[in-house]
Amino acid sequence: AAALGEWHCEKRPFAKSESFANNNENVPETGCLSIIVLGASGDLAKKKTFPALFNLYRQGFLQLNDVHIVGYARTKISDDDLRDRIRGYLPNGDNGTEDVENFLLLIKYVSGSYDAPEGFQALDKAISEHEFSKNSTEGSSRRLFYLALPPSVYPPVCRMIKSYCMNKSDLGGWTRVVVEKPFGKDLESAEELSSQIGELFEEPQIYRIDHYLGKELVQNLLVLRFANRLFLPLWNRDNIANVQIVFREDFGTEGRGGYFDQYGIIRDIIQNHLLQVLCLVAMEKPVSLKPEHIRDEKVKVLQSVLPIKDEEVVLGQYEGYKDDPTVPDNSNTPTFATAILHIHNERWEGVPFILKAGKALNSRKAEIRVQFKDVPGDIFRCQKQGRNEFVIRLQPSEAMYMKLTVKQPGLEMSTAQSELDLSYTQRYQGVAIPEAYERLILDTIKGDQQHFVRRDELKAAWEIFTPLLHRIDNGEFKSLQYKPGSRGPAEADQLLEKVGYVQT
Ligand code: NDP
Ligand code: BG6
Repeated sequence: AAALGEWHCEKRPFAKSESFANNNENVPETGCLSIIVLGASGDLAKKKTFPALFNLYRQGFLQLNDVHIVGYARTKISDDDLRDRIRGYLPNGDNGTEDVENFLLLIKYVSGSYDAPEGFQALDKAISEHEFSKNSTEGSSRRLFYLALPPSVYPPVCRMIKSYCMNKSDLGGWTRVVVEKPFGKDLESAEELSSQIGELFEEPQIYRIDHYLGKELVQNLLVLRFANRLFLPLWNRDNIANVQIVFREDFGTEGRGGYFDQYGIIRDIIQNHLLQVLCLVAMEKPVSLKPEHIRDEKVKVLQSVLPIKDEEVVLGQYEGYKDDPTVPDNSNTPTFATAILHIHNERWEGVPFILKAGKALNSRKAEIRVQFKDVPGDIFRCQKQGRNEFVIRLQPSEAMYMKLTVKQPGLEMSTAQSELDLSYTQRYQGVAIPEAYERLILDTIKGDQQHFVRRDELKAAWEIFTPLLHRIDNGEFKSLQYKPGSRGPAEADQLLEKVGYVQT
């Protein structure tokens, strides 16, 4: 594996960059690393957090001598019970390999409530005991708290951590808190949550995770845009007709209906995952690769987004969604949405950014489609079959391809659509693409906040969607029914056509 903070490009190593490396790389980090997973009994913890920690451990990023992991939740279970719950979610977990068993031995479990001192005092004791067993001097420990919990308990949990579980002095080491989405339900609630957490922790201690920022091809966007001369002059309103950022899932909200119905697809996917991708596609070149410079540019894009117009939104709900007993019979919650965003700046004026997300559709896919304008004075117009389109497929099967018009091979002089194709499985055979959570947890340990959402960024993101969300919540905007396994409501395709998207 590449050493911490180093980038390699095929056989040619990249130089270490300011941001891709550890922020504190000149200060060697010492002391134990304690990773505390709060909500350890839950779904996210077993499916994502622990497997990501295991993969980091396997690759040597979590040193056996320094690290320990503590699960915390209300459920009364033993260390072994927690290990048994996790085992099946680890690669080859059920085969009891040495790696798996050694990793599981790093995990301890403490049970307690989320708002009473006793549990957190016991948690602090468990962490401290480990630190002392490793001869760590007080104050040099590193404590990472991962809140795999419903956001309703973030404030009391943060208060308890602050009161009872902090790294004991500021001589070295640190305490960091990782929080999951959803960060609030609208601008007001998000700001309230931010203030409550902000009173307890400084911004550099807070890691608001959006796992889309950990995906390989999302991380590639900066490099693609700013390290390739080819794209620099093309990436603007003069050449680009529209940009689509699409998320599709071919399954519904099974098992999560209760959660989903309170949030809907805009809060679940668009306001966070797709908007983060939009920022990276649309932002100006940052001054440097320092996390703050990158995040400054993302905030500017968000602040330049114009209010969303009702006629540029289509909402849908798949038939059968309300059969879930945890979903109310009269629910209007959208499971599908298409919304057009307009960025009011010199680069993007007049270019529609189409954000589309849906559950229970015909395929599972997440992609960015940058569609170029028609060729001016086109001499092939009687034969031409489509526009240039640059597609970045985030998942599945990561790929980038450019749709081009070429001469149809042969004696005839005719044109055809073809692709310049960079499919990762073919080009990078044998290279394992890390899981998003794996990368992001590693960043939290390194102290690199580049791929995390800053407070002002979150505020600007909620500002864009809150008026629309309130209209939906008030029943002013109806979700159209669509068949599971379809493309979603036909009205969404009509909207795309209206704003100039041409099927290629
Ligand atoms: P769970 O519903 O599984 O909750 C996690 C744990 O929190 C539970 O095991 C339970 O532990 C405790 N808990 C549950 N409900 C409450 C409550 N009302 N009050 C106090 N404690 C409660 O959640 P997930 O693991 O699915 O998600 C955790 C966080 O991650 C959420 O913010 C979610 O939105 C986010 N997330 C989840 C994803 C997923 O795939 N699951 C994906 C992306 C984000 P105990 O009762 O033992 O204390
Ligand atoms: C989560 C959403 O944030 O992302 C889920 O809450 C969704 O509804 C999931 O299924 C999709 O993540 P991925 O990485 O599978 O695209």
